[in-house]
Amino acid sequence: MLLFLFLSILSFSSSSLSLNQEGLYLQQTKLSLSDPDSALSSWSDRDTTPCSWSGIKCDPATNSVTSIDLSNTNVAGPFPSLLCRLQNLTSLSFSNNNINSTLPLDISACQNLQHLDLSQNLLTGTLPHTLADLPNLRYLDLTGNNFSGDIPSTFARFQKLEVISLVYNLIDGIIPPFLVNITTLRMLNLSYNPFTPGRIPPEFGNFTNLEILWLSQCNLIGEIPDSLGRLKKLKDLDLAYNNLVGSIPISLTELTSVVQIELYNNSLTGGLPRGMEKLTELKRFDASMNRLTGWIPDELCQLPLESLNLYENGFTGTLPPGIADSPNLYELRLFQNGLTGELPQNLGKNAPLRWLDVSNNHLTGQIPASLCQYGELEEILMIYNSFSGQIPESLSHCRSLTRVRLGYNRLSGEVPTGLWGLPRVSLFDLVNNSFSGPISKTVASAANLSKLIIDRNNFDGNLPEEIGFLANLSEFSGSENRFNGSLPGSIVNLKELGSLDLHGNALSGQLPDGVNSWKKMNELNLANNAFSGNIPDGIGAMSVLNYLDLSNNRFSGKIPIGLQNLKLNKLNLSSNRLSGEIPPLFAKEMYKSSFIGNPGLCGDIEGLCDGKGGGRGIGYAWLMRSVFALAVFLLIFGVVWFHFKYRNFKKARAADKSRWTLMSFHNLGFSEYEILDCLDEDNVIGSGSSGKVYKVVLSNGEAVAVKKLWGAPKKQSDDAEKGQVIQDNCFDAEVATLSKIRHKNIVKLWCCCTARDCNLLVYEYMPNVTFAELKGNYSDTFDAEYAYTLRVNEKSDIYSFGVVILELVTGKRPVDPDYGEKDLVNWVCTNIDQKGVDHVIDSKLDSCFKEEISKVLNIAILCTNPLPINRPSMRRVVKMLQEIGAENQSKTAKKDGKLTPYYYDDASDHGSFLPPPPGWCSHRERLIHGEEKEEVSGLSIEYLLCSIFSDNDSDNNTADDYVKGISKYANVFSNLQIGESVSMEWRSP
Ligand SMILES: *[C@@H]1O[C@H](CO)[C@@H](O)[C@H](O)[C@H]1NC(C)=O
Ligand SMILES: *[C@@H]1O[C@H](CO)[C@@H](O)[C@H](O)[C@H]1NC(C)=O
Repeated sequence: MLLFLFLSILSFSSSSLSLNQEGLYLQQTKLSLSDPDSALSSWSDRDTTPCSWSGIKCDPATNSVTSIDLSNTNVAGPFPSLLCRLQNLTSLSFSNNNINSTLPLDISACQNLQHLDLSQNLLTGTLPHTLADLPNLRYLDLTGNNFSGDIPSTFARFQKLEVISLVYNLIDGIIPPFLVNITTLRMLNLSYNPFTPGRIPPEFGNFTNLEILWLSQCNLIGEIPDSLGRLKKLKDLDLAYNNLVGSIPISLTELTSVVQIELYNNSLTGGLPRGMEKLTELKRFDASMNRLTGWIPDELCQLPLESLNLYENGFTGTLPPGIADSPNLYELRLFQNGLTGELPQNLGKNAPLRWLDVSNNHLTGQIPASLCQYGELEEILMIYNSFSGQIPESLSHCRSLTRVRLGYNRLSGEVPTGLWGLPRVSLFDLVNNSFSGPISKTVASAANLSKLIIDRNNFDGNLPEEIGFLANLSEFSGSENRFNGSLPGSIVNLKELGSLDLHGNALSGQLPDGVNSWKKMNELNLANNAFSGNIPDGIGAMSVLNYLDLSNNRFSGKIPIGLQNLKLNKLNLSSNRLSGEIPPLFAKEMYKSSFIGNPGLCGDIEGLCDGKGGGRGIGYAWLMRSVFALAVFLLIFGVVWFHFKYRNFKKARAADKSRWTLMSFHNLGFSEYEILDCLDEDNVIGSGSSGKVYKVVLSNGEAVAVKKLWGAPKKQSDDAEKGQVIQDNCFDAEVATLSKIRHKNIVKLWCCCTARDCNLLVYEYMPNVTFAELKGNYSDTFDAEYAYTLRVNEKSDIYSFGVVILELVTGKRPVDPDYGEKDLVNWVCTNIDQKGVDHVIDSKLDSCFKEEISKVLNIAILCTNPLPINRPSMRRVVKMLQEIGAENQSKTAKKDGKLTPYYYDDASDHGSFLPPPPGWCSHRERLIHGEEKEEVSGLSIEYLLCSIFSDNDSDNNTADDYVKGISKYANVFSNLQIGESVSMEWRSP
């Protein structure tokens, strides 16, 4: 026992004794870091030197540590200054970890340090002014931290610094001119910081060695200084995403070394400068999203250009023919300008063209046949021009194509057979041209086709059976063509199909069996054809169907009862040959237009059966006459009785009534006065602090439920327009529009009457509704409609999702006394209109990402559109959000191995989206989950997006899933009270 103890002491002491001093420092460093992934497990104290430990490099002669690279190891904790005791340490990298707290002043002890990479960590506070005391520092990368404040003036003293990157921090001072004193500097990278708005220091023209100047999204204002033209070594000039004005200085044509110029998203005016042919090294030029005008100069085309982006400007004239001679051009995006004339007919002949987007111009002539000569063309986007002639046959061999959009042109003739079946094409859009002929059977090999959009052409013939082979097809729109024959039976195999619109053709025959296998079908429009036979029962099993239009066909037989299970925003079965009873749920006056023009169809809807039904018809007519006579009698009796009984009372209330305003959502069979006169205490069926609920039986025998709310005191708004008063008083537009949803579980809101001091909501009367919910305080129940609404459809979940996003972006609760009688949605809308976006966005959010945040805000506004049918699907919402995420991400993406902004998904149709790259959220997420909440001085767009996507960004999530995802982040967004606000007020029960 004693021996064992002795031995173990011996082995312990011998092992620590044998490790050299530098190793011991590293052991202490290891103890100071949290290492959840055991990245430092090889750092064993039994070794004599640390030279074999992971991340450590030594000088082989002296075994002295020269380099430490612990990038991507997930270690956490404050910066270990102890490492500065390693005298020969020249290179230190902690890139992409969780180094937190501030960067200590004693970092200046690392006297031999040449390379310091602390990018993508959680460092906060100001930049230590002592960094400039590192005499040998050449490379300083602090990208992606939370440094704030000014750039210290000591930074002018760096002796050997060649690279400095402060990208993606919170530096909010000015861009200091003194940086130019770092004469050794080759790369100055300050992008994506919320600098105080200021000009590009003209002094920067004196950076004799500068190769990369990256100042995108730095709040730059004013003009681009002429002096920048003196940067003879500059290879990369990036001034994108600022507020620069004036014209592009002619001096920039002196940048003889420049390879890439990024000026997109500013407010630059004037034409492109003369003399661009001098930029002999220029490969990538992007001046998109400015206000540039004039012609695209031919000189530009004499350059070895690879990528030319000039979209969203005011360029006019024809495209210089020389553009087709650029030997390396792979990207040409000129959409949304005023270009005229033809595309050079040899475009693509001399260069491996990959992306071509000339949409939204006034271009004419034929599509050049050589576009895909190199076999690399992926996207051809030409929508909204005046191209004519046929699609060149050569394109049908272009197997690299993924997106083909030729819509809204004057193209004609048959589509080359092979084009239908290109294996990689996911979007094929020929809408609004004059194409003719059939869809070729070769479509069978279009394995990736997801959207086939060929409406409004002259296509004819049968739809080929092969359509049913397209396993990825989610949208097929072929409306207003001349297709005939019946739907191919295989079409029910399209499991992904969400939208089928073939209205306005000459299709006939029966709908195929098995339509119930269309589980994702959301919109089915087969109107204006010659379909016959029964409407298949399976239609009731298409559980997400929202839009069903089968009008103007020859459908016969009964209406499937299963239709009652669907949540339809649109139902049109009119002008067919349907017969029998209307399903009870739809047998109401308000659905009349859905069934009209079916002579054999009967229900409780007046005017449907045309009375040809023999004995029954006669009996019915007799009944009607009796009812009419009785009604007249009652009317006369009633008037007389009323006159006597209420003569005086009426006088008293006449003035009062005139002040009532009515907003009705439907054709009403009653007037507001009728209701007003029936609000007797006898009729109260529920009451609470907010008001009372009455059951009113109207003169036509129908019962309505009237909720009378004693409103909050109104502001004096006599001068306001009448409509405005109604808008305000009627609680909100949501009340009005939810009332338009037709669903069995939703009580209809007939109308809403308002007066100075009280509001009436008139509902369809439902005997089984419990009125418990209606008794609460008005401001708590918030939305009267929700209280009376028992179930809402998916689109109202989208609405809830939109409200939660509004909460995130505005930092406000959904209910707040500040809004007066409005809710958050109305508050946002009015404030954007009146005071602008800035007034609405939460000041805690990082202003650096204002643009993205505004986009998120816009999506939320879309989701909260008053009309459910106008709200996007969750799928679409996710795509839009992902696009914002991808844009945000792509700013940091590398192109050709260089740190430079590159957004490869820009397209005129904003259609191609990138999912957030793997691990995109993880870095910021760690910050969100920890206690670091208080340290966060500005919440970035990433918080917003990460919180929305959370861990799951699958296509199939419902709005609910995303709301749950967001709730995980409720601790960061202090305004978010998901539990309360979502489940109680916004989520459908
Ligand atoms: C640093 O390197 C020098 C020679 O390159 C060597 O003499 C010295 O001992 C090293 N320092 C340490 C602490 O090992
Ligand atoms: C820094 O990270 C460590 C390890 O995760 C943690 O314990 C510490 O609280 C953090 N410090 C700060 C100031 O956030």
